[in-house]
Amino acid sequence: MPGRKVYLVLLAALVTSGAALPQSAIRYDPATRVWQLSAGEMTYEIGVNDQNGLQTMYWGPRLEGPSTPATPKAYPEAASFDPSVSATPLEYAGWGGGIPTQPALKISFPDGNRSLLLDYLDSKQTDGPNGNQLEITLRDRLAEVYVHLFYKVYAPGILARWSQIENRTKGVITVEQAASATLNLPPSTSYELSSLSGRWGAEWQLHTVPLVPGHSVLESRRGSTSHQSNPWLAIGRTGETTETAGPVWFAELGWSGSWQIDVEQTFSHRVKITGGYNNFDFSYPLGPGESLKTPIFYAGYTSKGHGEASRILHRFQQQQILPGAPHPKPRPIIYNSWEATGFNVNEAGQLALAEKAASLGVERMVIDDGWFGQRVTDHAGLGDWYVNQTKFPHGLKPVIDRVHQLGMDFGIWVEPEMINPDSDLYRKHPEWAMNFPGRPRTEARNQLVLNLARDDVKQYILSFLDKLVSENDIAFLKWDYNRNWSEPGWDAVPLPEQKEIYVRYINNLCEILAELRKRHPKLEIESCSGGGGRVDLGILRYTDEVWPSDNTDALDRLSIQDGFSHAYTLGVMVAWVTDVPNFLDRRIIPLQFRFTVAMTGALGIGSDVTKWTADESALATNLIAFYKTIRSTVQQGALYRLIAPETSEQTALEYVAEDGHQAVLFAFLHSQHYGEPFQTLRAQGLEPAALYRVKPLDPLKAPGLPQEMTGSELMGPGISLHLIGDYDSTAIVFEKVEHK
Ligand code: GLA
Repeated sequence: MPGRKVYLVLLAALVTSGAALPQSAIRYDPATRVWQLSAGEMTYEIGVNDQNGLQTMYWGPRLEGPSTPATPKAYPEAASFDPSVSATPLEYAGWGGGIPTQPALKISFPDGNRSLLLDYLDSKQTDGPNGNQLEITLRDRLAEVYVHLFYKVYAPGILARWSQIENRTKGVITVEQAASATLNLPPSTSYELSSLSGRWGAEWQLHTVPLVPGHSVLESRRGSTSHQSNPWLAIGRTGETTETAGPVWFAELGWSGSWQIDVEQTFSHRVKITGGYNNFDFSYPLGPGESLKTPIFYAGYTSKGHGEASRILHRFQQQQILPGAPHPKPRPIIYNSWEATGFNVNEAGQLALAEKAASLGVERMVIDDGWFGQRVTDHAGLGDWYVNQTKFPHGLKPVIDRVHQLGMDFGIWVEPEMINPDSDLYRKHPEWAMNFPGRPRTEARNQLVLNLARDDVKQYILSFLDKLVSENDIAFLKWDYNRNWSEPGWDAVPLPEQKEIYVRYINNLCEILAELRKRHPKLEIESCSGGGGRVDLGILRYTDEVWPSDNTDALDRLSIQDGFSHAYTLGVMVAWVTDVPNFLDRRIIPLQFRFTVAMTGALGIGSDVTKWTADESALATNLIAFYKTIRSTVQQGALYRLIAPETSEQTALEYVAEDGHQAVLFAFLHSQHYGEPFQTLRAQGLEPAALYRVKPLDPLKAPGLPQEMTGSELMGPGISLHLIGDYDSTAIVFEKVEHK
């Protein structure tokens, strides 16, 4: 086997030096043919079995010693109805050998064969001296079809897996379904599955259900990530896993197109998770020599409950995924005009908002929808990315210059992938809109989706954005995407290739984002899709922040943000303070509550600030100044969900700075019953022996608190807050002063 010597040498070096394993590492044991992949507190083991299949050996708490002594062995046929291939926890199964569950790969061959039997071929460690990336190649038993499986481990405790399917036959083969990876859990009868689903205005609802024998599918068939379901899941054990304790296996897919994650439990209580491209309407031909790469599926394990699972993901996103990682730039405080002015944007109005926002301490002024083409309502203009002369007779320059004079930078809204039929672009290029020729084109919000799989569309979008950013001093784009696909036709390419649209569209989108950032290294981008319809680890490689929901009602936001925090760092989650009554539900919530809710993410303002009273402006100025003192802790620190909003009429969150110098605790009383006091809050994640200076945002709401407390006092007896009535909230900062 080529490369085996390298593994032996690496293993020997580790054993003889007695050195502790690095935070992330891959070791190979040639005696058992088992690879041990360790990251953070997790170990994942795979091996080549006696049938030459690649199977999962272990996924759980970190093993410090050598791998499990067991030699990988294919499981025997359980009954004539349960073939070996269904019982054996294969790492990446082709559809063949009678597999009755979700295969990772299904291919049809030109001669009518559809069976695929993937055997182990060889492997190499491909990531230099750190040895944290492994490539294992499988090959069909008869045909020259190769599958390269990639494994990469990251220090926070994440395993990344993806695959590349390569056709070395002489004919065209068709990939009918392709997963990135299958993850096999240890058998158990007591698993419970947590997932995030929702709809427009109500994204990120967390659901936990017991896993029973059967097949659950989390997916989007909509062409994009979707509000309906987010490509994240966590599996715990009923009665054992809580927020702060117990095993959690979790996974997250990095793909902004139609995606699918299958969770299956067999009657022998084997559970497997298979994630990748959505199979529905999928078909991808591969000519001789061609390959298809799948999205990256990320996986992790912790024995410290859902809170720690989230913190591992957050750390990983900050250190590896986000632009600027491992040190992503803190999010500035933005002002956005959408809720204040809707489509009615113009020079005078935006300048008035900008002046006021700057006086409050805002750092970035963003003009939302309505500044371009003939965009007066959502009926027209998308596609025509020139400045509307009636609204901005002098162009954008005077506004941008003034925004700069006010000490802020400037951002603007775009929705590059969409087109209104009432637009010059559509009149010129009706063929650019995704459709099936001769069939009705389904409009949503009066718009159609441009077929970004087309090269001419890709070039058009890249060049108008490049021009917009080059000709104006634009620091930030809010990149919106306000509908799903309906007729995903692509008649410009030969029939067998038309369904490649599902892959090529998203790859082109990512390439545009990457190229724009390359040409404009200071440009920052927000991913928005009518709220949180496009948040995933694919888009987050190119976007600095995301808009989680159009729902800005502060009470609903507590649940929305809580759900979001299970899968993504709150450091990227933009949250605006908006006006009351709220546009969605007419609810009236006091300004401080609206602020404190927004301050638990990347704070922004969306109110008509020109109408704020002197008292409101003074409160806002104070709270913005306060936020700046805790921003890096909130955005980049470790999050502890002390009280989840769905469990009572109270919510509490705490963030601890990466270096431990500061912690901040937020408490929210939604509604008080019977005058009952707010529950005692016990901090988490502090150093027990360290002394902390206690700095309440509102001293009257934290009566009798000593000025200094030890970590153990804050985490043991805890603190009592005086919150009363409806929608009361506060925050407390703990600053480390010394060790006792
Ligand atoms: C979407 C976004 C909003 C706003 C509007 C503008 O709904 O989520 O924030 O930008 O589009 O049309």
